[in-house]
Amino acid sequence: MKVALSLVTLFAASPALAQAANFSLVHAFEGSSFFDGWTFYDFYDNTTNGDVNYVSQANATAMKLAYVNDAGNAIIKVDNITNVPYPEKRDSVRITTNDFYNLGSIWVFDALHLPYGCSVWPSFWTKGYDWPRQGEIDIVEGINLQSANQMALHSYAGCTAASGTTQTGRAGNLNCNSTDGAGCTVTETSPNSFGAGFASAGGGVWATQFDSSGVFIWFWERSKVPASLSSATTSVDISTWGAPSAAYPASSCNVGNFFGPQQLVITLTLCGDWAGIPSLYQPACGGDGAANGCYVNSVINAGSPNFDNAYFEIRSIKVFGVNSSVEISPSSASAAAPSQATGGAAGGSSPTGSGSSGPTGSAGTNAAIAERFDLGGVLSLLGAGVLALASGLLL
Ligand SMILES: *[C@@H]1O[C@H](CO)[C@@H](O)[C@H](O)[C@H]1NC(C)=O
Ligand SMILES: *[C@@H]1O[C@H](CO)[C@@H](O)[C@H](O)[C@H]1NC(C)=O
Ligand SMILES: *[C@@H]1O[C@H](CO)[C@@H](O)[C@H](O)[C@H]1NC(C)=O
Ligand SMILES: *[C@@H]1O[C@H](CO)[C@@H](O)[C@H](O)[C@H]1NC(C)=O
Ligand SMILES: *[C@@H]1O[C@H](CO)[C@@H](O)[C@H](O)[C@H]1NC(C)=O
Ligand SMILES: *[C@@H]1O[C@H](CO)[C@@H](O)[C@H](O)[C@H]1NC(C)=O
Repeated sequence: MKVALSLVTLFAASPALAQAANFSLVHAFEGSSFFDGWTFYDFYDNTTNGDVNYVSQANATAMKLAYVNDAGNAIIKVDNITNVPYPEKRDSVRITTNDFYNLGSIWVFDALHLPYGCSVWPSFWTKGYDWPRQGEIDIVEGINLQSANQMALHSYAGCTAASGTTQTGRAGNLNCNSTDGAGCTVTETSPNSFGAGFASAGGGVWATQFDSSGVFIWFWERSKVPASLSSATTSVDISTWGAPSAAYPASSCNVGNFFGPQQLVITLTLCGDWAGIPSLYQPACGGDGAANGCYVNSVINAGSPNFDNAYFEIRSIKVFGVNSSVEISPSSASAAAPSQATGGAAGGSSPTGSGSSGPTGSAGTNAAIAERFDLGGVLSLLGAGVLALASGLLL
C-alpha cells in the first residue's frame, strides 16, 4: 500500500517510532470519574473574546453544565435555559487536564455529539505549559453551522506543514507560526466530522499521535472506527490505521523543538474571535452584519432552542503511551520547555507581541485577530467597543 509505505519511510527515520506500534493505556477519562483530573477555568472567556463566563466546577455541577449522564457519558454544555439579558454573557464550561502528556502519546477522543448551532464554537485541543511557546494542537474545532472539522497546529515560526504530505484531509495554510494567525490548517474531507452530521452518524473518534516523528490526527465516523480501537482497553496498535486526516511530519516541523508536553483542553465558547466574525457568522446565521451581530442575534434572550445542540457528549478520552512516563505533572512540564522557548529557529518574534492573546490563548485567537485587521479599522474599533463593553460588565 503506497500510503503505508511512505509513512513507514518517514517513521523509519525516527528512533522513537521504531520502538512502538502498540501503545499502552496511561489514563482514561470516562464514566463517573470523567471529570477527575481536570481544572475548570472559572473566569470569563478572556482568551478568544467569546460571550461566555466559564463557570467553576461547583457551578457547572449545580447548573448541570458538566455532568455524567445515565449512559455514563460526559456532558459539557452551554446554559440553554437562562434568559440572558443584554449585555451579559452566557454561562459555559472550559476544562484543562492537570497533567501533561509528552512525546510518545496517543490521545483518543470518542464523542457521540459535538456542540453546534449559530454562535457556537467548541474545541478539543492541547497546549504546552507556556503558551504559545510550547505549541498548540487543535484536534476538533468548528463554528456555527460548519459541517467539517478543522485541525491545526500553532507554533513559533519555523514549523510548517509539509506540502504534498500523505494525509486525507485538505491542507489550508501551511505555515504553523502563530503570528500568521490561523496556524497550519487541515480540513477534514471524510463526511460527518462536525455538526448535525456528526451527531446523526452516532458520533465518531479522533486519535492524535504526538511523537518526535510528527503530529498525526486520524478521524473515523462511528461506523468506520477500527475494531481494534473500539475494543482497545489496555493497549492500542496504530499500525493498521492507514493515512491520517492530518499529518505534520517532523521533516518540516521538528516537534520536539516546537512543542512541549501538552495538556488537553475542552472549550465551548460563543461568538468571539472566530464564530463571531460577521463575514463568517452572517452567511450561515443571519443578523444585521454588525460586529456584535452574533451576540445580539444568538446569545442573549432565551437559550432554547438555539443552544439545544450546544453540548458535547463524550464517551471517553483515553491516553495511550509508549510507556506510563508520558504522563507528567505540571512541574515536570514546566521544566521540560523545548529549546524553541528561546525564540524560534527563524528568529520569530513573540506571537503575543500583538497583544491579542495571553498564555492561555486558544485556537482561532490569532486567526481572528488577523482577520479583523484585514477587515480594517472600522471593524477593529467596533470589536474593541464590544470587548470594552463586555469587560466592563465584569467590574
Ligand atoms: C501489537 O499488538 C497486536 C495485537 O495485540 C499484536 O498482534 C502485535 O504483534 C503487536 N505488535 C507489536 C509491534 O508489539
Ligand atoms: C455559583 O457559585 C456561587 C458561589 O461561588 C454561588 O453564589 C451561586 O449561587 C452559584 N450559582 C449557581 C447557579 O449555582
Ligand atoms: C437544553 O438542552 C438539553 C440538551 O443538552 C435538552 O435536553 C433540553 O431540552 C434543552 N432545553 C431546555 C429548555 O432545557
Ligand atoms: C519511556 O519511553 C521513553 C521514550 O521511549 C524512554 O525514553 C523512557 O526511558 C521510558 N521510560 C521508562 C520508565 O520505561
Ligand atoms: C509567519 O508566516 C507568514 C507566512 O505564512 C510570514 O509572512 C510571516 O513572516 C511569518 N512570521 C514569522 C515570524 O516568521
Ligand atoms: C485570563 O484570566 C485569567 C484568570 O484571571 C488570568 O490568569 C489570565 O492571565 C487571563 N488571560 C488573559 C489573556 O488575559
